[in-house]
Amino acid sequence: MDSPHKTNLLFLFLLFSTNLLTLFVSSVFYSSSCTPTISTTADTATFQVLPPEFLAFTQAQRLPFGFNRNFDSDTIYPPVGNGCTLFPEELRKFMSYKVNGSCPDDELIAQKLLLKGCEPLPRRRCRTAAPPNYSEPVPLSASLWSTPPDSSVLWTAYTCKSYECLINRIKTQKGFDDCKDCFDLQGRERNRWTSPRSNGLDFSIDDVLGTRKPGTIRIGLDIGGGVATFAVRMRERNITIVTTSMNLNGPFNSFIASRGVVPLYLSISQRLPFFDNTLDIVHSMHVLSNWIPTTLLHFLLFDVHRVLRPGGLFWLDHFFCVGEELEQVYKPMIQSIGFRKVKWVIGKKLDRGPELKEMYLSALLEKPLNNSR
Ligand SMILES: *[C@@H]1O[C@H](CO)[C@@H](O)[C@H](O)[C@H]1NC(C)=O
Ligand SMILES: *[C@@H]1O[C@H](CO)[C@@H](O)[C@H](O)[C@H]1NC(C)=O
Ligand SMILES: *[C@@H]1O[C@H](CO)[C@@H](O)[C@H](O)[C@H]1NC(C)=O
Repeated sequence: MDSPHKTNLLFLFLLFSTNLLTLFVSSVFYSSSCTPTISTTADTATFQVLPPEFLAFTQAQRLPFGFNRNFDSDTIYPPVGNGCTLFPEELRKFMSYKVNGSCPDDELIAQKLLLKGCEPLPRRRCRTAAPPNYSEPVPLSASLWSTPPDSSVLWTAYTCKSYECLINRIKTQKGFDDCKDCFDLQGRERNRWTSPRSNGLDFSIDDVLGTRKPGTIRIGLDIGGGVATFAVRMRERNITIVTTSMNLNGPFNSFIASRGVVPLYLSISQRLPFFDNTLDIVHSMHVLSNWIPTTLLHFLLFDVHRVLRPGGLFWLDHFFCVGEELEQVYKPMIQSIGFRKVKWVIGKKLDRGPELKEMYLSALLEKPLNNSR
């Protein structure tokens, strides 16, 4: 594979060149299977050319009515993740399909590409693969706590091929899977956030809502919310929560949608798609933790602060880290964002043994009413 820098240079070059040149380059070079050589004034090197559909999507798109004052431009450059061009092989696979035809059934490669940083993924001009025998969802409110029919899911990307398999995998499958016991709505999901537990780390939804005037928490976001039981519980209280989730070896987004709440297919890397000062509450359990690169986490926490309205709540639920990390890295980082502490509970995580010195932090943080700069 060529160096990312070269590929990026080519990409930039193509973006800034005319549509005609882009079409010329893509049609001339994509048809050959060998790696072509392209000379630019900036660099003379061997490139792997980007897929023509990718170039078609990302090239300058002229506005039909010319200059637009809102855009301050006469051109749109449709967005894709900065990382897309770093992975030309995967990108080529993802963007190879028959235009106006059916997309390949390629959820797994799409998600890998996205997780590595090609987010947002480019749009495609093909019809997405769908379950062969889709059935209508269970009607509300029964849907909130029902296991949907298997026929509502395209199972190709997952080890399990049925909901029964997902529900039983806590007993039948070895090894780690994200949210392994989440699909069993009669299991642990049933009692999450319903009553506080003695360790102090588990706040209940009603305790948290009780810190505010009734009715003032109305809309919000759950980051990495598994099967969206948090959103379901909030819906039962007439609060609208959208839930971000990936499909890590399970059809999380399909399942969330089948329950009748809104899934958002968004990784932790992506800027939150909400305007500043708009949400009443942001919740996240287990997901925001020490596995996230520190700088990324720092940006993410400021993004949460950005989308919360003044007086809005950030419920950091079971933030996980090890030993001194909490005091040395995460506590100063979280405190530097500018939240007011409503609750702050530190506890030991003992499920894998005390010798590992694993720690949890559960915090309820408020964005101050008065902007501190
Ligand atoms: C796809 O459909 C559009 C709109 O009808 C058409 O202009 C284009 O030529 C089609 N492309 C292919 C490759 O079939
Ligand atoms: C399609 O799905 C429905 C509902 O889940 C099921 O009853 C039916 O047997 C399925 N048909 C086929 C051909 O798989
Ligand atoms: C939710 O809204 C409905 C319709 O307005 C109302 O009947 C119900 O009592 C509300 N539930 C709660 C828990 O506030």
